[in-house]
Amino acid sequence: MATGFPLAALRKRGKMFECIFNESSIYKCLLNGDWVESKLKKRDKIYSPSDGELVGEVQSISKEEADVFIETAKSAQIAWAGVPVNERAKIIHQAADILDKEKEVVADILVKEIAKNKKSALSEVARTVDFMHFTAEEGKRSVGESIRSDAFPGFGKGKVSIVNRVPLGVILAISPFNYPINLSASKLAPALVAGNSVVFKPPTQGAISALYLARVFCKAGIPAGVFNVITGQGREIGDYLVSHPLINMIAFTGSSKVGRNLAQKAGMKPLLLELGGKDAAIVLEDADIETTAKNIVSGAFSYSGQRCTAVKRVLVLEPVADQLVKAILPLVKKLKVGNPEDDADITPLINDKAADFVQELIDDAISKGAKLLLGNKREKNLMHPTLFDQVSVQMRLAWEEPFGPVLPIIRVKTVDEAITIANQSEYGLQSSIFTKNIDAAFRVASQLDVGTVQINGKTERGPDHFPFIGVKSSGLGTQGIRYSIEAMTRSKATVLNLQ
Ligand code: NAP
Ligand code: G3H
Repeated sequence: MATGFPLAALRKRGKMFECIFNESSIYKCLLNGDWVESKLKKRDKIYSPSDGELVGEVQSISKEEADVFIETAKSAQIAWAGVPVNERAKIIHQAADILDKEKEVVADILVKEIAKNKKSALSEVARTVDFMHFTAEEGKRSVGESIRSDAFPGFGKGKVSIVNRVPLGVILAISPFNYPINLSASKLAPALVAGNSVVFKPPTQGAISALYLARVFCKAGIPAGVFNVITGQGREIGDYLVSHPLINMIAFTGSSKVGRNLAQKAGMKPLLLELGGKDAAIVLEDADIETTAKNIVSGAFSYSGQRCTAVKRVLVLEPVADQLVKAILPLVKKLKVGNPEDDADITPLINDKAADFVQELIDDAISKGAKLLLGNKREKNLMHPTLFDQVSVQMRLAWEEPFGPVLPIIRVKTVDEAITIANQSEYGLQSSIFTKNIDAAFRVASQLDVGTVQINGKTERGPDHFPFIGVKSSGLGTQGIRYSIEAMTRSKATVLNLQ
């Protein structure tokens, strides 16, 4: 029986990928196993969010050039799908091992490029290494089924349907700035292990980190053409990429605004969309206040609130509101504000525009009578942690996603009021509920219109093999290792007609 295409025949041997990290800090794109520049010589400059220093320049690929990347991925895909899955899995394992060895370098790039502190940067890389190993194994476990015809009325035993999972073709992977390694690998590894080829468009701010990840895959021996990287501003080439007829599926993480536009432009392509959130922490009267406060503060403020799953509002029952505020405030005061190089908890936001938006929400809350407990202090794009009590549903902060270090506390009279406010959000990513009463927890959980409810824990994505689901404006489809592989493959039935 044929075992598919030998891997060696697909590989371009003797190529070195070291050259992308050069002294001039001009980073190239990956096309058919080669690091290439845009022919138009157009580039985007990447500045560090913390000190404004130039980190490097990335190519700004034109639409015409993008065609070549996509066509290349298309022509490599069938051969890649023919490579035995255990060989594909070996490359993913190998890439994970290389990433692990090079974690310090990758973490340093993250610190510089997206102002994530070193500890969080290292943890993003470590988590990605685990993700890739797990995905490589899970890819090997993807199985089909056979179905007999005689179960259906009117059919005898004359037919058997053999149902396999097959790759979709070329996957367009688009990731956001806040996890340029993890939220890229969480698309790339499942796509590749399942036999798809990829065109990867990383965030512009985050592209250097993402290119390093591509380099890791190259070093691990990913065949030329199977993995291609296009850099360039999403607003310039995004629509073109998502509507391209040779793209078979899109895995996107980013804002709801861009996700909604993408869904309109993509036509009938299958989509996995991870979008924004406004996760609520609902605190009942019998909650353990100390544990609740710790979870809320770490959930709201890590990476300065720039996480889709950050706790973005607290809905607390009146009788315990004062106690909760008293427990939260000192924890927020303790957060270290500064630069990522100094391992501060609160670091500069990704750019000035992001900080301006957070400031708008703060100003709106103050003008409408919210009680400022801490913060509302800004140095350029460094926003100090800001805590509000007495936030009302008239304020934008009750509904909009700040993606910054600001936490509104909304006091409610009843559990039903908390559920109503939680569900009135346009978003539906996660919610937390804090209570010692497990029955109450499940009762509330069953009424919350979100992808995941956390009982007595902060909202968060991991562990990464759990399903990760966004409803309403928070997304489409289910992520998580096995779920992502399923989303990037389809059933293919072959019917055996017995004579
Ligand atoms: P973003 O502005 O939506 O950008 C995300 C990605 O989309 C970037 O690579 C961006 O490229 C690209 N893009 C921009 N315009 C595009 C277009 N017209 N077509 C296709 N792609 C386009 O989001 P972000 O600021 O990077 O990330 C923050 C947002 O992501 C927040 O709303 C957050 O909640 C959400 N997020 C959600 C999850 C989740 O799992 N639900 C996880 C992380 C983040 P450029 O960088 O070149 O603009
Ligand atoms: O920003 C979105 C990430 O998927 C959230 O992951 O909850 O582990 O920080 P996290």
